[in-house]
Amino acid sequence: MSDWCADRETLREQYADASNLDDRIALHEQFSTADRPLNAWRFDLLADRLDDDAVVLSVGVGPGDLWAENRDRVPWTVHATDASPGMVRECRGAFGDESWPRFGVCDAASLPYRPQTFDAVTANHMLYHVPERRRALREMRRVLRPGGSLVATTNGADHMREVADVQDAVAGETLPRADGFQLAAGRDLLDDVFESVELARFDDDLRVTEVEPLVRYSLSREEFEESDAPALHEAFAERFEDGVFEVRKNVGALVARRGE
Ligand SMILES: C[S@@+](CC[C@H](N)C(=O)[O-])C[C@H]1O[C@@H](n2cnc3c(N)ncnc32)[C@H](O)[C@@H]1O
Repeated sequence: MSDWCADRETLREQYADASNLDDRIALHEQFSTADRPLNAWRFDLLADRLDDDAVVLSVGVGPGDLWAENRDRVPWTVHATDASPGMVRECRGAFGDESWPRFGVCDAASLPYRPQTFDAVTANHMLYHVPERRRALREMRRVLRPGGSLVATTNGADHMREVADVQDAVAGETLPRADGFQLAAGRDLLDDVFESVELARFDDDLRVTEVEPLVRYSLSREEFEESDAPALHEAFAERFEDGVFEVRKNVGALVARRGE
């Protein structure tokens, strides 16, 4: 079994299009306890720091939900990029014939932009997938203007452990976690590359009241197949108490600033 969290070949399959990611996002959107959507919070982190004429690079943008959900609020020039051509296609599709954002296929570790081009870079829930992480962070710093910020959202320790425990029990082994860029270790890495780093937390958990979305969420992993659905269903159903399965989340943003 390969560790798909940072293996290039399996990541290519995992993110050939947005279907796996959409199944995971659906669980969060349906059962979140947060007082606002994750992408509204992510957007505000940028809005607090940027002037209206800012230029923003989104790395590993996926299907572009951050920009699609906030499209009416965006005054900036946005470049939306991802290593997966399928993701960039979906992102482009979400904007129809709107003339923004600009789109591009590129790897985080090799950004095809001149030095000091952007006022902000976003790398949301993607740096744990990048094997050459330090190189990617140096690239992000290189393309930022002095005073510009990298906003990188990610998960912290024990994020959704209740779900992982059930998945491990069904798989009969400890499955790989996307833990190569968690909040604590990610902060240390950013401290090495940037002049200052801040942590902001997103206050959210899940109160899940249906089993099936947990099964779909799990089947989005490379290690499970459709034939595992009955076993996953049974194992999750056993964890519900009074019709609810409580899941603790640990999500935050590391905001790293390039010095003047
Ligand atoms: C978990 S998704 C996150 C998508 C989006 N940022 C979000 O938070 O909704 C991870 C994304 O990172 C992309 N990705 C993975 N490795 C990458 C790399 N080395 N360079 C650029 N993008 C990468 C994947 O194709 C996928 O679209």
